[in-house]
Amino acid sequence: MDLTDKTRILITAALPYANGRLHIGHIAGAYLPADEAVRFFRLRGKEVHFVCGSDENGAPITFTALKEGVSPQDIVDRYHRLLGEAFAGMGIRFDVYGRTHTPNHDRVTQDFFLRLYERGHIVKKTGEQVYCLACRRFLPDRYIEGICHHPDCRAPGARGDQCEKCGRPVDATRLIDPECMICKTLGREARGHIEIRATEHWFFQLEGFSGRLREYLDAHPEWRESVKRFSYGLLDQGLKERGITRDMDWGVPVPLPEGEGKVLYVWFDAPIGYITFTREYFESKGIPGAWKDFWGDPAAGLVHFIGKDNTVFHAVIFPGMLAAHGDYRLADAVVANEFLNLEGDKISTSRDYAVWVDEYLASFPADPLRYYLTAIAPETADADFAWKQFQQRNNGELADNLGNFIQRTLAFCNKYFAGRAPEGAEIGPAGRALLGEIGEARRELSGLLGSFRFKAALERLMRLSQRGNQYFAEEEPWKSRRSDPAACAGTMFVGLKLVEALGIFMAPFLPEAAERVREFLNLPPLGPGDWDAPSRLEGGHPLRESRVLFPKLEDSAIQPHIDKLAKKR
Ligand code: 2FM
Ligand code: ZN
Repeated sequence: MDLTDKTRILITAALPYANGRLHIGHIAGAYLPADEAVRFFRLRGKEVHFVCGSDENGAPITFTALKEGVSPQDIVDRYHRLLGEAFAGMGIRFDVYGRTHTPNHDRVTQDFFLRLYERGHIVKKTGEQVYCLACRRFLPDRYIEGICHHPDCRAPGARGDQCEKCGRPVDATRLIDPECMICKTLGREARGHIEIRATEHWFFQLEGFSGRLREYLDAHPEWRESVKRFSYGLLDQGLKERGITRDMDWGVPVPLPEGEGKVLYVWFDAPIGYITFTREYFESKGIPGAWKDFWGDPAAGLVHFIGKDNTVFHAVIFPGMLAAHGDYRLADAVVANEFLNLEGDKISTSRDYAVWVDEYLASFPADPLRYYLTAIAPETADADFAWKQFQQRNNGELADNLGNFIQRTLAFCNKYFAGRAPEGAEIGPAGRALLGEIGEARRELSGLLGSFRFKAALERLMRLSQRGNQYFAEEEPWKSRRSDPAACAGTMFVGLKLVEALGIFMAPFLPEAAERVREFLNLPPLGPGDWDAPSRLEGGHPLRESRVLFPKLEDSAIQPHIDKLAKKR
């Protein structure tokens, strides 16, 4: 996965279902690391495009609509808007944020389906499915619940697609004591009128690509362990054909005459959404053919950021679909995070046990959350969000370490060097060593960020800032100001260089604060290539007034959030 040599990169982030608000688990899982990667690669001068959009098809949407008593269109319109606002508020800036319930996406998906169908990779079969006599319809996935049929589990409330308790896929026709969720939602008797009926469906012959997919995984030993474990696990079990149609009327219609009344399964159309949106994006830029440079040509980079529950879809099944199509390249990397828990418990949207992004943003700016979620990033194991720790890390690290170093440097120069970068600076050995360390940190950060180790990169950044504070403690410029003005000028000049570097290195994580630092330094906004560009600060360079970069968070601001969660337990 060496993206260092790639000059053009397409980055995708998992398409969130447009049936609910965004919470911190989503942000930590896929969107924040994706955004950090995009910002980093841009600073390195690469041409990067960032693609995402709402996942608007499938049973998750219609089921929410049923529960709320509104139409699926109402649901996706409402949540598409809310998701867009939450992303923008977090500084997660996609180049395109599309939607999958559109005629254009239908067309792209149907063409894709037909290509696989014509090549013999999709076949029609008669299968059995759960049917509700009261609703007079087949019940897909989460429209049915019952006791898990796995003998060693037998948990109640297992869904037609998966048992939450044992985590295994469920065969809906084998659920014990099944209940129709539509009837239940509508307050009708939910049991006793369910039968198994024959219905025709189309199946993608994934097993034919086992060899190709194993080669693909083998070519990427550098991927995260969990991604490899899930993906090899699926291959080792033996790939099976996948049902890719459903008896529903919301979704991408099956583009065959016999497909009347059926739609494509949401996990067939959703990843194709990445392609649809890339096409729409380049069309809107007036270069409609450019999408192929990223999806057809491995010379460009292609990376998918996802949460761990999406792993096999991105690392095995979607690549299988792309291989079956024939015109597509496969991604260089699938980057998945583990789960984020909240105050020691699982985040639960149904119980409202979550930190919602809109709620967070009503109280705090984005950067402290970006910081904390990166500092505890669930890159290799589940992580836990705790409000008290969020406060401590903001106050002890962002405010007291990074913010303090930047603020004290600028305030000192503004006060004692007439608001300019010191002139006539004499830089001693400690200062030269620190300047050298900036270059070293840049190299290390580049390696870490380029291999998607965001948490370690953030630690490296904070060590550099800590070094700045130590340097001042040792050099004592407030003393040398009188005793040795040239040495003081040297210390502060080195300090400013470090502020400039920190302002660049922090930009992937803390974009708002990074912009402020550029303003304080009276330098133009960061642009492509600035990561490796030589310093722009020279003696005499005029500075601007600085402000506290990361205000401390008071107990009184945090406590209401802790109380809210305590009530939900
Ligand atoms: O798990 C989810 O939220 C899905 N909507 C992710 C889809 S990712 C991609 F394939 F579109
Ligand atoms: Zn029913």
